[in-house]
Amino acid sequence: MAERARIGVTGLAVMGRNLARNFARHGHTVAVHNRTSAKTRALVEEFGGEGTFLPADTAEEFVALLEPPRRLVIMVKAGAPTDAVIDEFAALLEPGDMIVDGGNAHFADTRRREVALRERGIHFVGTGISGGEEGALLGPSIMPGGSPESYAALGPILEDIAAKVDGVPCCAHMGPDGAGHFVKMVHNGIEYADMQLIAEAYDLLNRALGMQPVQIAEVFKTWNLGRLESYLIEITAEVLAHTDAAGGKAFVDVVQDRAEQKGTGRWTVQTALDLGVPVSGIAEAVFARSLSGHAELRAAAQGLPGPTRGTLDGDDADRFADDVEQALYASKIVAYAQGIHQIQAGSAEYDWSIDPGTVAEIWRGGCIIRARFLDRIREAYEAEQKPDSLLTADYFRNAIAGAQDAWRRVVATAAELGVPTPGFAAALSYYDGLRSPRLPAALIQGQRDFFGAHTYRRVDREGPFHTDWSGDRTEHAV
Ligand code: 6PG
Repeated sequence: MAERARIGVTGLAVMGRNLARNFARHGHTVAVHNRTSAKTRALVEEFGGEGTFLPADTAEEFVALLEPPRRLVIMVKAGAPTDAVIDEFAALLEPGDMIVDGGNAHFADTRRREVALRERGIHFVGTGISGGEEGALLGPSIMPGGSPESYAALGPILEDIAAKVDGVPCCAHMGPDGAGHFVKMVHNGIEYADMQLIAEAYDLLNRALGMQPVQIAEVFKTWNLGRLESYLIEITAEVLAHTDAAGGKAFVDVVQDRAEQKGTGRWTVQTALDLGVPVSGIAEAVFARSLSGHAELRAAAQGLPGPTRGTLDGDDADRFADDVEQALYASKIVAYAQGIHQIQAGSAEYDWSIDPGTVAEIWRGGCIIRARFLDRIREAYEAEQKPDSLLTADYFRNAIAGAQDAWRRVVATAAELGVPTPGFAAALSYYDGLRSPRLPAALIQGQRDFFGAHTYRRVDREGPFHTDWSGDRTEHAV
């Protein structure tokens, strides 16, 4: 009998191709297929020496190359193209086979597809994969959802190709149906928040201290030696240090300042709104990208008055870079706290039993938000006493206690200088909102009752009440 593959990848754009190579490099015979065969041939010609690839020209050939139960990874565009590929292959599969969607699909689509395929006995495994092109090849962080049975058949192969930290693979079963894509979506939301915070730190150093990108690159390099050590800080230093070949200017100064997005950050916020989870830092990051893209509005606003103070001097200037480091660290903790809250809320809503400690563990390597402090997050959720919020875990409570004076100074200074810091400010407001014993929400309840008889609850008695605002202002239990 001809050789068969343990796993197959269809969709050989850069992510799919690199994933296929990663399987092959780990000794797994991999069947490869693409809508246009040229890509399949090119992969085998260029990288055939890295392992055993079995190329297929048609969907039928591809499926026939897979050993049962068939493990078929699809790496195509989210949305309609994914549905089309699923339909094409599902018709050729048998009960017990698995379709793995490794793209950035919306978890609600994944849930729908999982139900539809389950009815036909096929496992549908929505899998978050993070790490970009390089991660896919050298070891990504992998977040599979789907049934426990599918993980039993698939998990060991995925764990093989995942990044490893201290020998632990950055891959674990997140939970059933859409859990994997949900976790990946929140990963991307945190990614947006983290990128925005880093961008604000750069902007502050530039505008408050007049530092040039190449000098700021050095600051980031130093920060990367400490508690902020992370992939995003590391690449920020590289980007800031880069000089534009054409004009010799700093690269970052010749790039248009309009941030684009493919949509996963937006999904995180939309979903958080539905779940009622305040992911304000992530939302501000999405909105900051959106604001940057409104070129005409920004042009029209150029004449608007700003503050008179331009830059810092004296002692204020001397301690500012250190203050920004502390503000960045504290705000970053808030971004993760919000993201983890959303994962817990999603898990409760959809019955997924996602373990935040496991999520932190598999985000330690391979993914875009990999960072030294994920070890601390994992520890916080592995402790016997689970924290209600990441912010109330001892380590992070102490970290913020140490950073908060600087954090407050940075937000105040930014406001004074007119430098926008939606990420830092939202994170600080969230922190202060959570720890406030009383919030002005009480007044909002009063307003709602005034104009709409929406009722309110009292601090000293049970049940809803309404005050007769337009009459004699007597209060009635409702
Ligand atoms: C990853 C990334 C990746 C994402 C890009 C671009 O984890 O490897 O999150 O999945 O597609 O970061 O995202 P935006 O275009 O939305 O910025």
